[in-house]
Amino acid sequence: MINGEKLMIVGGHNLRGTIQVGGSKNATLPILAASILNGSKSTIHGVPRLLDVAVMQDVLSYLGAKVNWFGNTVEVDTESIHSVEVPEELMRRMRASNLVLGSLLSRFGRVKISYPGGCQIGSRPMNLHLKGLQSLGATVHEKFGFITVETKEGLTGGVVHLDQPSVGATENIMMAAVLASGVTVIRNAAKEPEIVDLQNFLNSMGARVKGAGIDTIKIEGVRIEDLRPVVHTVIPDRIEAGTHMVATAVTGGEVTITNVIPEHVEPLLAKLREAGVKVGVGDDFVQVQGTGRVKAVDLKTMPYPGFPTDMQPQMMALLSLAEGTSIVAETIFENRFKHAGELRRMGADIKVEGQIAIIKGVPKLSGAHLEASDLRAGAALVLAALAAENGTVIENVSHIDRGYERLDLKYNELGARIIRVHG
Ligand code: EPZ
Repeated sequence: MINGEKLMIVGGHNLRGTIQVGGSKNATLPILAASILNGSKSTIHGVPRLLDVAVMQDVLSYLGAKVNWFGNTVEVDTESIHSVEVPEELMRRMRASNLVLGSLLSRFGRVKISYPGGCQIGSRPMNLHLKGLQSLGATVHEKFGFITVETKEGLTGGVVHLDQPSVGATENIMMAAVLASGVTVIRNAAKEPEIVDLQNFLNSMGARVKGAGIDTIKIEGVRIEDLRPVVHTVIPDRIEAGTHMVATAVTGGEVTITNVIPEHVEPLLAKLREAGVKVGVGDDFVQVQGTGRVKAVDLKTMPYPGFPTDMQPQMMALLSLAEGTSIVAETIFENRFKHAGELRRMGADIKVEGQIAIIKGVPKLSGAHLEASDLRAGAALVLAALAAENGTVIENVSHIDRGYERLDLKYNELGARIIRVHG
């Protein structure tokens, strides 16, 4: 299904120069949801201007919060929230809209959402979120595609053991536990840097959370009177940083990527070095230098600090041109190889067998007419197009704009030739 804008890319131009990474989308979304908890002001700096962030802003406004943007600063005042129901239209636009569950339930004792929509990368149920909230005393009713979660006498702290370290479930349970009475312990919690950023935001607000970044998080419930206005700066986006690193490698360019926390991109740095890419690391920047054709490498996506699933499509674009055969195992999502078909249209030799993709590197890719299916797959197609011979057209650019602030303009400043065509 084709709609909206497209990108036209002339390949063969390597990227050179310096590029600054924006704030993390996947830290911003839970932090915006958490701003519901204090019933007052949150000033958040370093917020990327992305479609997904705009959806979360629409959700907060729909609920009654006041949201104002000043450049990359968002000021949210949630005192005026008057609803706890998120309509289907908003839920369908982004799965992460479900991140308001925990804070609405914690503050108001009730929340109603429809099953979330979002990317096409798999079924992405919410069973771990709901089971976790039930462990804190909530009741869950599902009817006609809507989920109502409520608690009559307020949530009670408890032990939640996650079957798998779900990022969203960890975040929702953390937020729900903030105003629960007593202590909550989350075991087998996700350890992503975005969880640590959420903990820091919550603690700046007056909550009592510790342990984010390891697999056991402890939240001591407080009262809403204990919560206060908060000012916070979001961590840099490690996936945007990784995308620029791969874009540099695949075009054989030389780029300095600034506003990076090197520890957050460690798994990718290791993999790029293994593939023969030259990578230098400073306190808050990374320097990448493409050295011609990379070597084939195997990779397996894992929860942090393993190799991030959100970088798997971009790496597949790079490995399509590698010397040798690479095996990519996608263990997080059951349907995250849609970009393989599009890369094959460019001449890539990729066989997908369930959760495994076998990529036999080819010496070159040719431009083609492609469709972006989700935000990281779309980014992967941009990278492949930058390296391909002649021209590529990529449809459904809105997928890319969900997670990247004007990727076309940023890469053109580094020497790419990308035109955005409207309609
Ligand atoms: C977050 O999604 C990220 N999104 C995703 O980034 C990222 O790919 C994912 O974590 C994994 O790292 C945001 O942070 C907004 P999960 P989330 O819950 O929370 C299954 C991007 O490109 N699962 O860790 O939805 C689920 O089906 C996006 O920026 C259940 O089975 O991911 C999936 O297979 C894409 N039941 C796996 O766990 C549940 O209740 C990981 O999901 C919840 C999840």
